[in-house]
Amino acid sequence: MSAGATGSAPIVLHGARLTLRRAGEVDLPALMSVLESPDVVQWWGRPDVEQLGNDVRGGSVDVVLVIEVDSQTAGLIQYHEENEPNYRHAGLDICLAPQWQARGLGAEALRTLARYLFEERGHHRLTIDPAVTNHRAIACYRAVGFKPVGVMRRYERGPDGSWHDGLLMDLLREELR
Ligand SMILES: CC(C)(COP(=O)(O)OP(=O)(O)OC[C@H]1O[C@@H](n2cnc3c(N)ncnc32)[C@H](O)[C@@H]1OP(=O)(O)O)[C@@H](O)C(=O)NCCC(=O)NCCS
Repeated sequence: MSAGATGSAPIVLHGARLTLRRAGEVDLPALMSVLESPDVVQWWGRPDVEQLGNDVRGGSVDVVLVIEVDSQTAGLIQYHEENEPNYRHAGLDICLAPQWQARGLGAEALRTLARYLFEERGHHRLTIDPAVTNHRAIACYRAVGFKPVGVMRRYERGPDGSWHDGLLMDLLREELR
């Protein structure tokens, strides 16, 4: 297992069509533009530039990676690690700008990051938690091998201020497709 994936150590991961690269301050405008698109706000909530800045400076548990396709910022994928030995796992989140969606890039980015987390970071289990109504995301995560665990009732507050249910999904190392 490689050391130093938290803090601000560089990470560069290659898929067939995309590169995942640890985000820096220079990426903030392009990432904010992805996060501000209404299609992303619907599922991620309104973005907070200060929080994102703190994340990319290594000031939080989230490790933020830019999804690059043809040298353009297509989206972001992030993970956080639970390192308590008896519960060790990593949780993932992803979003793509609308023009990059529905081309299989979400699944490819998740596979690329999952391989890194299993092979380099030594995890045996990953989690992801879409809204129960986010059918596209759930289909994408199933295609990668994530399985539904159960519904977390009134799990997160949406941009409309109401609490909605989340679907906890998990992926074991041998289930990655
Ligand atoms: C969710 C997201 C990451 C998926 O990435 P993507 O590249 O668009 O998805 P993919 O092309 O890899 O796969 C989408 C799958 O959903 C299916 N799909 C597309 N629209 C669908 C819909 N409305 N209902 C059900 N399934 C749908 C596709 O057929 C495909 O399934 P398949 O591989 O079995 O054919 C991306 O669409 C996104 O960022 N959306 C906005 C933000 C968001 O929802 N983020 C996730 C929050 S948990």
